[in-house]
Amino acid sequence: MTRHPEEINRELQTRNAKRETAVGKLQQSEEQFRLLVEGVQDYAIYLLNLEGVVTTWNSGAQRIKGYQAEEIIGKHFSRFYRPKDIQAGKPNRSLEVAAAKGRYEEENLRVRKDGSVFWANVLITALYDTGGQLCGFAKVVRDITERKETEQRLRETERLATLGTTAAVFAHEIGNPLNGLSTSLQILSGLIRELVHDPVVEETLEISRQELQRLTALLDDYRSFARPGSVKIQPSNPRQIFDEVLAPAAQHYEECGITLELEFDDNVPLIAVDREKIKQVILNLCKNAVEAMPKGGTLKCRAYRKADRVILEVTDTGKGIPEGLDVFQLFKTTKPSGTGLGLPIVEQIISEHRGTVHYVSELGKGTAFIVSLPLSDTGELTKEPLVSQGKKR
Ligand SMILES: Nc1ncnc2c1ncn2[C@@H]1O[C@H](COP(=O)(O)OP(=O)(O)O)[C@@H](O)[C@H]1O
Ligand SMILES: [Mg+2]
Repeated sequence: MTRHPEEINRELQTRNAKRETAVGKLQQSEEQFRLLVEGVQDYAIYLLNLEGVVTTWNSGAQRIKGYQAEEIIGKHFSRFYRPKDIQAGKPNRSLEVAAAKGRYEEENLRVRKDGSVFWANVLITALYDTGGQLCGFAKVVRDITERKETEQRLRETERLATLGTTAAVFAHEIGNPLNGLSTSLQILSGLIRELVHDPVVEETLEISRQELQRLTALLDDYRSFARPGSVKIQPSNPRQIFDEVLAPAAQHYEECGITLELEFDDNVPLIAVDREKIKQVILNLCKNAVEAMPKGGTLKCRAYRKADRVILEVTDTGKGIPEGLDVFQLFKTTKPSGTGLGLPIVEQIISEHRGTVHYVSELGKGTAFIVSLPLSDTGELTKEPLVSQGKKR
């Protein structure tokens, strides 16, 4: 059966129209895909030819690696590697693996345009043409520096926690023999003094005694630092806390030429705190204050209310804290027999109470440590003013 030429023509036109629509759709979807890839910000997505030369570049790549498309297209991808990785032949090896296995993935350090280094998750995928021939590689790179840093911090915290537990056991194990040593030394000193009266022997005994004392102090401080942070909150009178700390030391202060001044405002409310722990805070602050005044001076303790907080202050007229000395850092001490644990303990306890501690200091004039504690959440404690308090003593 012969077909009319016009009929054939119409059919051809319809076929062409269909093909054009299909091609148009394909072009449109390719364009959309290109826009998608180009627009992705969180991933560097780009193509490499068989030699490893960059042939496309998206905005994520620009953001992560710092190169504009025109700067990097046509360049070899090895410039994203650290010099030692290039020397070790890593860039080409990763392409060889991708070519052999279809993909290559790693998490490693890479270099940005400005030379800075970042953690990258890298995926290289082999690309094949329609005939099944390898024709290049697609690379997807994600900046995972933040995740790596979080992991690192977590590992560090875990390490410190383990170290803390081990050290607590260690401290406990050392405590008893140390006590024993101290007693033995006392007995021995008594016996030796009866037998010989030699200044060298005296001095040696005294040095041993001081060293043992220092070790015991270090251990005591360490123990209160390492003690787990269970806080026994009870309504407490700030003045009573100060009194309980200062009373046993009164004679010692007098001997050291230190005048004690106390100042408690009438409206200081009870505070909801772990009394023993806050006593430790005041003790550590007063001890530092006294140690800063070897020639005597004035130790002033204050408590007052400021808005919704209670402020406890310990002020001395001592040597002051030099600028740049991080006094809250663990084991930071300027004293020959210091432990550098007093203020870290203070900071730890105060933060357990959701409070803050800071100081103001002037060299040669003195220092004030200021502890700020929030008032009780219940509000009940805050209504009850203290009865037995004067302005000054
Ligand atoms: N009131 C103060 N006046 C001067 N220096 C201080 C005062 N309080 C603390 N410091 C400084 O901070 C350091 C750390 O104090 P601390 O943590 O209590 O450890 P330690 O008293 O064992 O040295 C001290 O060695 C001292 O240099
Ligand atoms: Mg101290």
